[in-house]
Amino acid sequence: MRKQIAAANWKMNLTLAEGTALMNEIVSNDITLNDKQAAVFAVPFPYLINNKSITDKAVNFFTAAQNCAAEKAGAYTGEVSMSMLESIGIEYVIIGHSERRDYYAETNKVLAKKVNLALENNLKAIFCCGEPLSIRDAAEQNSYIETQLKESLFHLSETQIKNFIIAYEPIWAIGTGLTASSQQVQDMHAHIRKVVANKYGQAIADSISILYGGSVKAANAAEIFSLPDVDGGLVGGASLVAKEFVAIIKSLKNS
Ligand code: 13P
Repeated sequence: MRKQIAAANWKMNLTLAEGTALMNEIVSNDITLNDKQAAVFAVPFPYLINNKSITDKAVNFFTAAQNCAAEKAGAYTGEVSMSMLESIGIEYVIIGHSERRDYYAETNKVLAKKVNLALENNLKAIFCCGEPLSIRDAAEQNSYIETQLKESLFHLSETQIKNFIIAYEPIWAIGTGLTASSQQVQDMHAHIRKVVANKYGQAIADSISILYGGSVKAANAAEIFSLPDVDGGLVGGASLVAKEFVAIIKSLKNS
C-alpha cells in the first residue's frame, strides 16, 4: 500500500498557545497509525520547533513547514531556507500551494528550484497542483495539471521523484465549502498517476501518494479517502478543529 497521509495546513492561523492546545488535544486521542500512515502538521515557521516536540512523542506524527525559500542561503531578508528546516529536524515541507502561486507569484520555474532544494536537504515535499475555476470550466484541467507537474517535478530522476508526495487541490474547492465530486477527484488523481507513469513507469507511479485538498472535513473524508487513487488529504479549515482533524486522520485507509 502507498503511504496514506492526513496533512494539516494551518496556513496563517492560531497563536502559539492555541496551536499547542490544538496539538495536545489531537495527540491525547491516542490515535494508532501504522507505518503506512502518517499525520503531518504544517504549521507557521515560529511554531516548528515547539510543534516537533509534540509530534515526536506520537508515532507516525510529523511536523512540516508550509513553504521555504527558493535560494540556498544569503541576503534574502525574511526568508527561511530548506537547510534551516533540516537543521531543526523538520522532515516535510509543502511546496507550491496555490496561495503561494497566486499571492506571491510563485511560478512553476521557481517551484522547480524549491523542489531541488528539498531533495538536497532530505526533506519530503508535498508538491501542490490544482486548477482555477476558469480552467475547469473550459475542461482544460488535465493539461493544466500536467504542465504544473512537468515544469516543476519531471526533471527529477526515478530515485528522486520517490521522495515526493503530490497534493491535488482544485483552487475552486479551497476554503469555499465546495468539494470536488468523488468522480472529479478520482478522475484527476488517476490522470496524475497516469502522467507520472508515462514519465517514470507504473511501479513508481503506484508508489507515490496523491493527496486531495479542498474543503475536506470529518463528514466527507472517509468517502474521499476511500477512492482508489486518493491516498489521504491536505486539509485547511477543518485541521484547526481537533475533533474534525482527529476524525479525518481516522478516515485514512489502513490496508
Ligand atoms: P480548506 O480545507 O480550508 O479548503 O483548504 C485546503 C487547503 O488549501 C489545504 O492546503
